[in-house]
Amino acid sequence: MQKGELLYEGKGKRLYKCEDENLLIAEFKDDLTANNAEKRSREEGKGALNAAISAQLFKLLEANGIKTHLVKRLDSTHQLVKKVSIIPIEVVVRNVATGSLTRRLGIADGTELPFVLVEFYLKNDDLGDPILNDEHCLLLNLVKDQETLDLLKEKGRKINKILKAFFANRKLDLIDFKVEFGIDANGEILLSDEISPDSCRFWDMDTRQKLDKDIFRLEDGSVKDAYEEVLKRINEERV
Ligand code: TMP
Repeated sequence: MQKGELLYEGKGKRLYKCEDENLLIAEFKDDLTANNAEKRSREEGKGALNAAISAQLFKLLEANGIKTHLVKRLDSTHQLVKKVSIIPIEVVVRNVATGSLTRRLGIADGTELPFVLVEFYLKNDDLGDPILNDEHCLLLNLVKDQETLDLLKEKGRKINKILKAFFANRKLDLIDFKVEFGIDANGEILLSDEISPDSCRFWDMDTRQKLDKDIFRLEDGSVKDAYEEVLKRINEERV
């Protein structure tokens, strides 16, 4: 598959046309951004790590009944994906309070939540990705109906259940994550974008060490060793 015209460039990926009009080529970039791209850096090899991690997790989710946009990996940083129209809602799923939840509601950092919390945020950098309730989503016509919102929440919870158990077997606590969904040519909702340490928080179960983008967000540190550790644990046999 040859890369065609560049269709879109985001903070972490580029999307290209290819010979098949129903498919796109996604390229994972080495760029790192935080705080709505106020903070920027670049780390050689980060894109390849995220591409590998995301592909493994999407395959795991497919095997467990979650339909995704992933067709196949092309090389270390490129994936062939189904063309979708992205629903402009960031679906955030949380098991433990940290990040913006602790800042917004004053819940102590590291508090285990009494139930899985699903939140919606508007995918709009100019507005700083504001939090949305269901009525905001309907008011802005982000989805066609309440049923679709309920489906997004259900998919978020199902993804969480699968990933939380998978990572627990590898001594990693899945703290929270963000996913995006798209609608394909048949009207089907597919998990899209990526799932990687850029979009998830992982804490080592024993040491509570952070193995995700918070290393960059909070400490300005290099993320590569942590992302390599996440990939290594994904590939480990069940413990
Ligand atoms: P938050 O605590 O900053 O709201 O982030 C919650 C989770 O969602 C965390 O795992 C990081 C992820 N996330 C993204 O991947 N992209 C975003 O734009 C935001 C706001 C969060």
